[in-house]
Amino acid sequence: MTSATASPDDAGGVPDPRAALESALREIAETADPAALEAVRLRHLGRKGTLARLTARLRELPPERRPEYGRAVNEFKERVAAAADERMRALRPARPAAGHGFDWTLPGNWRGLGRRHPISRIVARTVEIFRTLGFTVAEGPDIETVRNNFDALNTPPDHPSRDPQDTFYLEDGRLLRCHTSPVQVRYMESHRPPVRIVAPGRCYRRDTPDATHSANFHQVEGLYVDRNVSLADLKGDLSYFAAQLMGPDVRVRFRPHFFPFTEPSVEVDFTCHVCRGRGCRVCKQSGWIEIAGAGLVHPNVFRAVGYDPAEVTGYAFGMGIERIAMILHGVPDIRMLYENDVRYLAEF
Ligand code: PHE
Repeated sequence: MTSATASPDDAGGVPDPRAALESALREIAETADPAALEAVRLRHLGRKGTLARLTARLRELPPERRPEYGRAVNEFKERVAAAADERMRALRPARPAAGHGFDWTLPGNWRGLGRRHPISRIVARTVEIFRTLGFTVAEGPDIETVRNNFDALNTPPDHPSRDPQDTFYLEDGRLLRCHTSPVQVRYMESHRPPVRIVAPGRCYRRDTPDATHSANFHQVEGLYVDRNVSLADLKGDLSYFAAQLMGPDVRVRFRPHFFPFTEPSVEVDFTCHVCRGRGCRVCKQSGWIEIAGAGLVHPNVFRAVGYDPAEVTGYAFGMGIERIAMILHGVPDIRMLYENDVRYLAEF
């Protein structure tokens, strides 16, 4: 009699591993859920299970029968374990393999916190500082009429800034505003004096881009109209602004200039924030940086918007935001503010 055909308890009371294997495989195939399968697996492969009993009997056999019996016990162990594993895979809901669907065992990706662009931050800070002086915010559209951008601002028909070489015109005769000054016109036409506004916004000029020029840039316009507003008010307010933005040791100077819409007109310089006025590459060794154009509102502008120049006076300024960003943060090239390399912007 060979063990392959023997009953589980053949002569000598030794259980038959092959018969035990067959019934174990049948039991495994019949399990309906992972818990039942685990119970069957333990009953056969566990510490007091079938495998343990089969192994214990090995010693009771005569030496000549042990090799064959041992092989059958090994086969029992391997095939029962393999069948239990396979059945478990069939009973468990399948986990998506890596690369297919969502693998919840992978650690998450930290994307980092966003931050505001330096241009937006300077605009917000500028508005905040002028708010403390009683200014409110006004806005106007990027696409403007020739009248608001030039005519109402006392700009003569032959003024070079009107040239299509310098200003972007649209097919319908309108244009992309080349400064924020048309917001002065819009605001005064819809409000009675006194006026105290700042107007941040985008401006467009046909400039060839280089380290200090961009075809698209930002200004903050300021307008203060009341009785007896003077250049001293302008200088005082801009000095306060400079000190608030950059620190108490920043100084402000006016240089005579010309704008059609102000009289007198000035260009406004701040002491260079990078070298504190000693002279460096950013300020071209002068110690000063041009920040704004400004002046007292021209009587013709008041007339154009329906204000009486005998009743009111006012100051206006237009500040270049990129200029401020460059000296505040030591940015050597205006284009770095537009390339938007987040690694560079994260430095601010
Ligand atoms: N609009 C002028 C410019 O863009 C600046 C300016 C504004 C000058 C207001 C005077 C008054 O250069």
